[in-house]
Amino acid sequence: MIRRLGVSYREENSEFWGEGLIILENICKIYGRNRVEALRDVSLRVCKGDYLSITGASGSGKTTLMHILGLLDTPSAGRYLLDGRDVSSLRADARARLRGEAIGFVFQSFRLLQDLNALENAALPLAFQGVPVGMRLPRARALLAEVGLAGRAMHRPCELSGGQQQRVAIARALAAGPRVLLADEPTAGLDPAASRDILALFDRLHADGHTIILITHDPAAAARAARRAVIHAGQLKEAF
Ligand SMILES: Nc1ncnc2c1ncn2[C@@H]1O[C@H](COP(=O)(O)OP(=O)(O)OP(=O)(O)O)[C@@H](O)[C@H]1O
Ligand SMILES: [Mg+2]
Repeated sequence: MIRRLGVSYREENSEFWGEGLIILENICKIYGRNRVEALRDVSLRVCKGDYLSITGASGSGKTTLMHILGLLDTPSAGRYLLDGRDVSSLRADARARLRGEAIGFVFQSFRLLQDLNALENAALPLAFQGVPVGMRLPRARALLAEVGLAGRAMHRPCELSGGQQQRVAIARALAAGPRVLLADEPTAGLDPAASRDILALFDRLHADGHTIILITHDPAAAARAARRAVIHAGQLKEAF
């Protein structure tokens, strides 16, 4: 999976293995004039190669936490260390740059560009990074093959099933070689069979050494992860 000359992602990245990749210290997030406390004193450590699920009821703070982990938003208080670097209060432009390199997002609604085919969608992060077409398209093709969509490269999103669109989104999330895959309810819009396929794909990516954080309200999906945490009214607790 995403191997160079038969070398697995785990081996390629062995120098990082087991270190704290993501460290949250006492993170709080307060929204707006109503001062909604969406996250309260959240602390978390995620190591390279971890597969962590986070479950919680609607409104418990899952998406808020994902936005902070994914550098889409900043905490109101607390510290976020990503690969040893304090990213808690990076400026928007620096945050966006780091986000493009370090984070692979998978959303419930896929968020594919409708005018691009599967191959072009998967290659998009590489285009943003200025990788030449001659390099990015072969890589995107390999990623589509990895997610089981080699035969659908020229299809547009509207010509693909929900499960297939989510696979394209996962290929896109992997394209830039992110440090962590962040998935927010990736199976919520899919039927049971397609959900199982996507979760099996995450299992495979984890076995290959990818770091995955899966946010879901589905306990069965959460149970697939090696580590499980629950968020309740903005407070995160790990289940052992
Ligand atoms: N931009 C915002 N402004 C004000 N309040 C917000 C904002 N975003 C979220 N909230 C509030 O923060 C709390 C947590 O919301 P969040 O979207 O993180 O929940 P969630 O666990 O992802 O819910 P769901 O399962 O429904 O997606 C909620 O009370 C919500 O109303
Ligand atoms: Mg949410």
